[in-house]
Amino acid sequence: MTTLTITRPDDWHLHLRDDAQMCAVLPYSARQFARAMIMPNLKPPVVTTEMALAYRARILAALPATQLTCFEPLMTLYLTDNTAPADIIRAKESGVVHGIKYYPAGATTNSAAGVTNISKCYAALEMMAQINLPLLVHGEVTDPDVDVFDREKFFIDRVLLPLMQRFPSLRIVFEHVTTRDAVTFVNETANPVAASITAHHLLLNRNAIFQGGIHPHHFCLPVLKRETHRLALIEAATSGNPKFFLGTDSAPHSQSNKETACGCAGIYTAHAAIELYAEVFEQANALDKLEAFASFHGADFYQLPRNHDHITLKKETWIIPTQLEFGAENLIPFRAGEYLSWKMI
Ligand code: NCD
Ligand code: ZN
Repeated sequence: MTTLTITRPDDWHLHLRDDAQMCAVLPYSARQFARAMIMPNLKPPVVTTEMALAYRARILAALPATQLTCFEPLMTLYLTDNTAPADIIRAKESGVVHGIKYYPAGATTNSAAGVTNISKCYAALEMMAQINLPLLVHGEVTDPDVDVFDREKFFIDRVLLPLMQRFPSLRIVFEHVTTRDAVTFVNETANPVAASITAHHLLLNRNAIFQGGIHPHHFCLPVLKRETHRLALIEAATSGNPKFFLGTDSAPHSQSNKETACGCAGIYTAHAAIELYAEVFEQANALDKLEAFASFHGADFYQLPRNHDHITLKKETWIIPTQLEFGAENLIPFRAGEYLSWKMI
């Protein structure tokens, strides 16, 4: 196969940042995806519908004129201990907020204002279940007694299961799953729970963090896992099961914030997102499953229409730039300076 045409995909988990940094990365996502679920972990976080509306307007204003009509940012609110049922109603009524993001406090980049104990959010969650607004979870416990590689596994039993029992009709996206445990859990549950999967967790196992020395550009959260987990993710993504869909978690940080003594978590993949997924699916002999994973399953879960236009990928070797512009700084993209075998045309 030398070309592959699929319905235009959506990115169900994207960090766009703000201001000049957003202007630098936005065109890469808008070029490939029709829509993206925009993460609210700005500083300060996007906690109200008014903030989401303002952020959405900044995104639209930053789109190059040629992409103005073809990219739709889908907004999320950042759940806090103080999110009230009225905030949830307002979000739903806005028509632009499509999910509420739950970061356990301290779990990841800009999550200090996150939820300290999910029981503080029961009233908000009750309202979400009632008016059908999905919860997007960063599924990692932050308990200091839990090993960093086990944080996702423990989250299932300690937080997610009790939450699902209390709110059985609440639609939940288990974001960026990274373990066999999470895949099995999502596969087996009868609740309305789906999961997004990143390209980098499909391509790398945790050895990549340490290959030939410490590799800060392979540090993200949830952290990369063992090979057995990567294989489970590939199986899930290529299975055709509608519970699994594309979410890049493309999370740009400046080179100086990555290559430092205490580097930020996050991998930037938006410059070649669909090509990276295509590589995974090709290697798994499942290119015929890429379209549903990238373009159908997410839209169906979020009860949004599927896209109508198409993109075409060509089998062509190209070299990913060694760096990209990122406001006043540099951004090191995933696979910088390395070859990729698919190219969107
Ligand atoms: C994300 C970021 O940088 O905003 N980082 C990451 O490693 N994925 C936050 C997140 O999604 O956890
Ligand atoms: Zn993320």
